[in-house]
Amino acid sequence: MEKNIPKFDVLPQHIGFIMDGNGRWAKMRGLERSAGHKEGAMTFRRIGEYCADVGIKYMTFYAFSTENWNRPKSEVLALMKLFKEYLKEGDERIAENDIRQMRLKFIGERDNLPKDLLRLIEKAEKESAKYDKVTVNIALNYGGRAEITHAVKEISEKVKAGELSVDEITEELVGNHIYTAGQPDPDIIVRPSGEYRLSNFMTWQSAYSEFWYSDILWPDFTEEDVNKILEDYQKRNRRFGGV
Ligand code: FPP
Repeated sequence: MEKNIPKFDVLPQHIGFIMDGNGRWAKMRGLERSAGHKEGAMTFRRIGEYCADVGIKYMTFYAFSTENWNRPKSEVLALMKLFKEYLKEGDERIAENDIRQMRLKFIGERDNLPKDLLRLIEKAEKESAKYDKVTVNIALNYGGRAEITHAVKEISEKVKAGELSVDEITEELVGNHIYTAGQPDPDIIVRPSGEYRLSNFMTWQSAYSEFWYSDILWPDFTEEDVNKILEDYQKRNRRFGGV
């Protein structure tokens, strides 16, 4: 399992991955789009494990957006099946998370998720809540605008109930009502597959994130690509609006 891990002077604390290009990967091989997602799910595990081994403490993987429900029903079903299969692996996945002390957290709207998937999500979160070395966020039924809207509603309810005054609404308070509350914002967001958009991913959290993109399709993404991102990250001069 020990891979040849280069030494990095500065590591991002949090990396966001937009897992794009699965459909094209499958099409290039004359396969169904779902075959690309299946391969992409293996890449998710491989890259997540490698990042943990390198020392990345937080990762967020964009697995299903609030807009992805508009895809053909068969594709949506295939994706839901993949998520369930991953969560159902039970002992195998628990052992895997145990080795790296990985906590799983799902971010996104839960209301309209299939009930059986929701139960598996809650179980996986509960079982891994004891780990604090690495946090793996899986953005599922996630949209950055929906997340901010959700936070606004929660805060409004508190104001309405008299628990909070309008003057107490600060950026910090809003940050405490988004799904990744308590976690550092992503230092760098990675998008493979030749697209240069955020696509509603971590809208609040990405205010100062670096962006890294490449033409590689997600299923082809390798540990070597992670090394390139990390090498590149050392050279970025992050000023957060200062000079
Ligand atoms: C976008 O690529 C990808 C998705 C909508 C799904 C991503 C999900 C996975 C990789 C599965 C993750 C699995 C687990 C267990 C978390 P696309 O299909 O839009 O690619 P295209 O632009 O080439 O069509």
